[in-house]
Amino acid sequence: MSSKKSVKPTAKEPIHLPSKEFSAKARIPSMAAYKKLYKESIEKPDKFWAREAKELDWRKKWDKVLDWKAPFVKWFAGGKLNVCENCVDRHAKGARANKAAIIWEGEPGDKRVITYAQLHRDVCRFANVLEQRGVKAGDRVLIYLPMIPEAVVSMLACARIGAVHTVVFGGFASEAIVDRLEDSGASMIITADGGWRRGKIVALKPAVDEALKKYKGVKSVIVVNRCNNPVAMQAKRDTWWHEETAQVSAKHTAKAFDSEHPLFVLYTSGSTGKPKGILHSSGGYLTGTYSTTKYVFDMRDEDVYWCTADVGWITGHSYIVYGPLANGATQVMYEGAPNFPDFGRFWKIIEEYGVTIFYTAPTAIRAFIKAGDQFPAAHDLSSLRLLGSVGEPINPEAWNWYHQKIGGGRCPIVDTWWQTETGAIMITPLPGATPCKPGTATMPFFGIDAAILDDSGKECKADQDGRLVIRKPWPSMIRTIYGDKDRYKKTYWSDYPGLYTAGDGARRDKQGNFWIIGRLDDVLNVSGHRLGTAEIESALVAHPAVAEAAVIGRPDDMKGQAVAAFVTLKGKYQESPELREELRSHVGKVIGAIAKPDDLHFAPGLPKTRSGKIMRRLLKELVTTGKVSGNITTLEDFTVIEAIQKKISR
Ligand code: PRX
Repeated sequence: MSSKKSVKPTAKEPIHLPSKEFSAKARIPSMAAYKKLYKESIEKPDKFWAREAKELDWRKKWDKVLDWKAPFVKWFAGGKLNVCENCVDRHAKGARANKAAIIWEGEPGDKRVITYAQLHRDVCRFANVLEQRGVKAGDRVLIYLPMIPEAVVSMLACARIGAVHTVVFGGFASEAIVDRLEDSGASMIITADGGWRRGKIVALKPAVDEALKKYKGVKSVIVVNRCNNPVAMQAKRDTWWHEETAQVSAKHTAKAFDSEHPLFVLYTSGSTGKPKGILHSSGGYLTGTYSTTKYVFDMRDEDVYWCTADVGWITGHSYIVYGPLANGATQVMYEGAPNFPDFGRFWKIIEEYGVTIFYTAPTAIRAFIKAGDQFPAAHDLSSLRLLGSVGEPINPEAWNWYHQKIGGGRCPIVDTWWQTETGAIMITPLPGATPCKPGTATMPFFGIDAAILDDSGKECKADQDGRLVIRKPWPSMIRTIYGDKDRYKKTYWSDYPGLYTAGDGARRDKQGNFWIIGRLDDVLNVSGHRLGTAEIESALVAHPAVAEAAVIGRPDDMKGQAVAAFVTLKGKYQESPELREELRSHVGKVIGAIAKPDDLHFAPGLPKTRSGKIMRRLLKELVTTGKVSGNITTLEDFTVIEAIQKKISR
């Protein structure tokens, strides 16, 4: 199945039960309570989700909780709400007005504390700016910002006026911006002069300028001055955030939108070279992120929560912006790198702000293990009460280190499985209830009917590998792939009609815990970031020297998976270390540094079937085991494998 280090359910790992003190205060204090509510949520989803949704502010109540015509869904149809009002106004107008919503720290050490009342003023101002610039409900706005509060303000201001945001991770390059502009048809961009990363300014505006040479649909670019980094401003088109917001009122009346009004499009990698625009809508998404934040993190008013993701990924959308803010949480937001000025930065932040809930990725944990225990040991981490993990399977070594060295052995760990498409956490422990074993995301969240099927569609037996599916619709689910209903149907709903296929392999142990094995498609998970092999291949073949390319993931202790590329050159080009570097940098320029191949092998030819399909499976086997032992009956020319084998063993 996957080349990822598999985490076997048979591993002799002890079971960790939540402490009595934790359970006593938790919303879901026992497995019996979980099972009771889970049963209700599956048997009577309307009842369960209506109760959750009622905790939000609706301008008009829905007519119908669930309207399901597979694979298209409407949640809370007929209902009207404003998502931003739920995340900001209802706290700003009540007892949380002067509560910190965001405690932000820049990488150089500068700090800002933004209360709910201040966030309200900031969001209202920016909503007024957007409207003055002609942005209307349904228009797409591309956000390309570092991890600064303006990123959250921009997203919420879009939501407030019904505009659809599409956030592009700051590590992506200009070509990736062009693809997303063209696909979404965005008419406005919000960016910055740059952001701080490992002590250096990473410029953002030049990538926007480059993209706008190709895409002509953007009328307005608003630029945040984060670093006093010189930028070229194009008259009329480009304006400064601080100048625009100074001219408008801090009051803004929000309109209500239909529950199914689109909230955002977030691009993610799939099996083809073209990223998919995952469309999420308003009422269901907000209910899902609100409810999971409340139960999975057992979020309380007195908590100080910190999710280390970037807003450019779904984790940032759901568990920095919408989920925590809908709950009126106080959260820490940090701009920079975890190892700046050294690997103690995160622990220093936790100590300084008294963080109680910490949500990060296994790849970061592995980097911390490598850096050494002296970094966390130098800080008082006793404020922590709950830890979370997301993005890839967490190997038992990382789980145990996280549990002991960061959680002091007392904090439950919620290993949360979900996807850009699912919008919210799907399989997860509930911290006061679920017995945890390192490496398993454990049980489905309320309302999530998860199962593992074999190729014929039969449910797998305990400990048997199969495909992870979800059998019932859930509120925060993907609504469609932006502009491509057919691709939506084909990608997610065609393996087993009427069931959502996640694209992940999994197995369930005898206790009913789900163990995620990894992707079954050509999607890589590099340091918790999702990358399509086809995207990297098409970047490589766009280089004049490259005739053909195949990209695979190879297991990597730090990153989970590393990118390995095999390239055949056009006749007149010679293999050389310089060309290898040039090709790696080329991928960095086209997609972004995260996609740069870790290994780039020149190959005289690629292994293919008789019909010309590249057999990536064999390349994977070669880099993982050094040989090919699997089925090669369809391979057209075995000498190709021998030649590659010689090269990589050198
Ligand atoms: O393979 C699974 C892995 O990440 C994929 C989703 O990636 P993305 O859409 O970028 O969202 C990442 C953040 C939610 C999944 O198909 N994945 C995510 N969380 C876990 C995981 N694999 C194992 N355990 C997890 N907790």
